[in-house]
Amino acid sequence: MTASIPTYADIQAIVADDFAIMDKQVFGSLNSKVQLVMSVSKHVIDAGGKRMRPLITLLTARMLADVQSEQAMQLAAITEMLHTATLVHDDVIDASGLRRGRPTANATWDNATAVLVGDYLIARSFNLLVGFNNLPLLKLFSDGTCDIAEGEVLQLQHQHNPETVEDDYLQIIDGKTSRLFMMATKGAAILQGRDEHLDALGAFAYHFGNAFQMIDDVLDFSGDAAVMGKNLGDDLAEGKPTLPIIKTLEILKNNNSADYDKLRIAVQTGKVDDAGELIALVQSSGALDYCKARALEETKLAQDALSSLPNNRYRDGLYQLTQLASSRLV
Ligand code: IPE
Ligand code: IPE
Ligand code: MG
Ligand code: MG
Repeated sequence: MTASIPTYADIQAIVADDFAIMDKQVFGSLNSKVQLVMSVSKHVIDAGGKRMRPLITLLTARMLADVQSEQAMQLAAITEMLHTATLVHDDVIDASGLRRGRPTANATWDNATAVLVGDYLIARSFNLLVGFNNLPLLKLFSDGTCDIAEGEVLQLQHQHNPETVEDDYLQIIDGKTSRLFMMATKGAAILQGRDEHLDALGAFAYHFGNAFQMIDDVLDFSGDAAVMGKNLGDDLAEGKPTLPIIKTLEILKNNNSADYDKLRIAVQTGKVDDAGELIALVQSSGALDYCKARALEETKLAQDALSSLPNNRYRDGLYQLTQLASSRLV
């Protein structure tokens, strides 16, 4: 392993041919007769995005058997289709205006259109999954999709609740984020009948997903909107108790500070008169350092889980992805 962290393009290059074919399949697998479904889907899919989940599927499939697999590429495209659906729905729920550097589907069309096209993307994903004629794979994806939806509902239940604790947060991100990472890895093993690797792949993806979401939530307070392609500070404005907010409240409470009431009320009401002041509060509290340390712990657990899997350049690619994700912290 080299000391310097590779770029995302370097990791993609490990599976360059598979990746290029998969990338065309994400939109190419859609066949709606309704023009609006195609336009809205194209708007979101063409905007890019990192294609991280399909990259995970392709690396996992190649790690287990180094051959080009039509099924693995199709499954990878399906994970991106599902991911896209969750983003389209998430932006309605979060009332977000910017995604992948473009106005969101809800901002470009409206909420109803975005919800229905998101539904279509999920339905089409399952339509394609049925074609594998593989019941364990279908079960993994249907259970997982229920878990993702439950994670989002759980998050909604905790919105505006300043009593939310880290365990609640972990339960939420397990569903809304880590579950799809798990589907992306375990799905590739199920395709090949390599059930002996399911536990290790599940542990890798679970911890990587947790780390990824924790980092995303830190960046909501310290990132750059132009780099991220989405507006920052949204979590606070929506009274969404992410880990940085949970931890800041905990620290301020112990200090018995007047700022504690300010942040608590902001979460409760979602009314933020001076967002800059509250963001500065989170930044100066030490909470972000705690979140970064937690993300690094999860990253380490993900990396440890890789050790029992076949040792080759594809496994190195998965390892490097976790390094790259955690390097967004600095
Ligand atoms: C965004 O995922 C949603 C989270 C889990 C934080 P990505 O950061 O992978 O989004 P895209 O696909 O690159 O746009
Ligand atoms: C991630 O949640 C969305 C899903 C995993 C479905 P967020 O609301 O934190 O994601 P962003 O910040 O909008 O990308
Ligand atoms: Mg969001
Ligand atoms: Mg976010």
